[in-house]
Amino acid sequence: MNLDEVYQELLLDHYKSPRCKGVLLNPDGKVDLHNPLCGDQISLTVKFSNDEIANIAFTGHGCSISQAAASMMSELLQGKSKLEAQRLSALFRRMIRSEIDGAALNDLGDAIALEGVKKHSARIKCALLAWDCIDRLISDPATSGSFRNEIPS
Ligand code: FES
Repeated sequence: MNLDEVYQELLLDHYKSPRCKGVLLNPDGKVDLHNPLCGDQISLTVKFSNDEIANIAFTGHGCSISQAAASMMSELLQGKSKLEAQRLSALFRRMIRSEIDGAALNDLGDAIALEGVKKHSARIKCALLAWDCIDRLISDPATSGSFRNEIPS
């Protein structure tokens, strides 16, 4: 099995058996983002403890990339500080834009399986939908609402 096949299996595993799926009660922040091109959606709820993501959960519907990306991201960010979550989001974005590769991506955990998306520009928004949610939540923890995904990718 080559690396592409390993990544494909990882993607399907997260899509079929999503981690951190659900809705948190009394979250500190909640964001719903829609991809206006296809209608696919991610709803993210987060509880913070001081500066840390104490709990994170998502629901949504859409393509395998958007849903697997949300699962991979949520699993990765559980227990991370806000600062670290922002760093990992920036790292993921740099991977998707083909700015870095190799060992520099090791901190991304299973999310590294989405590296191949960089070859398919139409799917980049799919991979970034969940990351756009957490960026919005961290930059404004009081965020609560539903938004179209207007963040350029
Ligand atoms: Fe809609 Fe992927 S096709 S988010």
